[in-house]
Amino acid sequence: MITPGNAAPSRMLEAPTIRQHSLTLGKNSRSQIKSQKPLILWMTGLSGAGKSTVADRIEHRLWQCGHHTMILDGDNLRFGLNKDLTFTDAGRVENIRRTAEVAKLMLDAGLIVICSLISPFRRERTEARQLVGADEFLEVFVDAPLDECMRRDPKGLYARALAGQIPNFTGISSPYEPPDAPEIHLRTDMADVDTLAGQDIRPPVPLPARLELYAGERANGGTDGGRRSRTPCFSAHPRANRAREAAISRQR
Ligand code: ADX
Repeated sequence: MITPGNAAPSRMLEAPTIRQHSLTLGKNSRSQIKSQKPLILWMTGLSGAGKSTVADRIEHRLWQCGHHTMILDGDNLRFGLNKDLTFTDAGRVENIRRTAEVAKLMLDAGLIVICSLISPFRRERTEARQLVGADEFLEVFVDAPLDECMRRDPKGLYARALAGQIPNFTGISSPYEPPDAPEIHLRTDMADVDTLAGQDIRPPVPLPARLELYAGERANGGTDGGRRSRTPCFSAHPRANRAREAAISRQR
């Protein structure tokens, strides 16, 4: 049986039998029609740090702004694409690799992709970054101290891990390597993410500076000469604004 860490030998050792097709449309065409610059926001942090909540909040905010997004959530992926993977080091390495490859495909589709998984190892996060362009990947450290995550213990998993019922639990019996230089560092122990996530969508929750800038670039069609727009929430594309307004009024 092929398992992570026991991978099949490469089929490319001798003469290659597959080759890349060149396609008429590329990432630029697909993103231009969406009037946005595709991006991967890679959220890393301990279980219970608030990754999924923050990811959900940020996606909602981007959607309000007329952006086309997708969330790749570690827990959710483990119900489908990654359901064969364990929480051993090898299982996590493969989990991160697959998620990064899917994120890259979605980036090629022109989307803003929010990846939300513990992704505990620096090397694999670096490899995920290296799959795409330097300006297409932002690492977001969703940071809460281990004590705080254990206090929150939203799924009761820390208690079970401390009782020896869950092996290889991140922070307890499996390591977490924090990012050295994340583009965005969110201390969720200093701001109540659940309150942020639960509040009304108007006025929108402020985004970290890099995202504010990004949204501003988007609203100005990416040609604002580096000036920051403080009115990032409406699309340059009138159709996107109409769709957004209709969607928001349906929600009310
Ligand atoms: S990762 O380390 O491979 O990136 P991933 O984000 O997919 O992890 O899954 C983490 C989620 O799986 C946690 O939020 C938690 O609910 C659950 N989980 C189950 N077992 C473990 C474990 N041993 N370590 C960490 N999380 C676990």
